[in-house]
Amino acid sequence: MGLLPRLRTLVTFSVLGVILVFGIRYWLNQKSYLFDEKSIAAIARKHVGTASKKSIEVAFGHVVEDLRVKYKGHILPDEDLQWVFVNAGGWMGSMCLLHASLTEYVLLFGTAVDTTGHSGRYWANITDTVLTGTFYQWQEGSLKRVVYKPGDTVFHAVGEATSVSWAAGTWMVEYGRGFIPSTLTFALADSFFSTTDLLTVFYTVKVYAKALLLEAGFYIGTW
Ligand SMILES: *[C@@H]1O[C@H](CO)[C@@H](O)[C@H](O)[C@H]1NC(C)=O
Repeated sequence: MGLLPRLRTLVTFSVLGVILVFGIRYWLNQKSYLFDEKSIAAIARKHVGTASKKSIEVAFGHVVEDLRVKYKGHILPDEDLQWVFVNAGGWMGSMCLLHASLTEYVLLFGTAVDTTGHSGRYWANITDTVLTGTFYQWQEGSLKRVVYKPGDTVFHAVGEATSVSWAAGTWMVEYGRGFIPSTLTFALADSFFSTTDLLTVFYTVKVYAKALLLEAGFYIGTW
């Protein structure tokens, strides 16, 4: 291929890329959303007491019940709920996906051991409400860490990167809003290239596919 056709291909792909990014941005700004961060945080906060008095399992059970009442038909059924390891940014946690679409997700997240690493930069706003344990966040440019305790909500904005650290036994409820497929590359990167734990990759993709099918079924049903 000569230089000119190559240049033309490059320009075409760049233009398509820019159109795609602006198109998705426009869509994210215009569309209406099922969940909002305040409602999810409020549901999580309601069960902080249960988490400390009884157990995190009982508290998470109540969170799921409340979500099923408020967002009927949008939370995966019990048989599809699965705790899946997440290896990303050098840390290791575990998540239980409750809802996911192309623009939103709700999940339970945490770790049974101390773990630390890079938060990742996402095309999504992510909020975490802590039920038990301690979440440490070190923001870019800062020389101090911020400490989050049960009942606190951590906000992670689009494009932001922080250092994150969780004490053993930190469990939380997480809500993400943005272009969700873009967060998957980070969530799976360490499983692909570091741990090569392809079973975890499979579980993650499988549960995301199930959640997408639930949403597709819901919208076909309401038509
Ligand atoms: C993320 O949050 C910021 C600040 O609240 C907001 O301006 C922006 O639209 C949000 N982005 C998405 C994708 O929801």
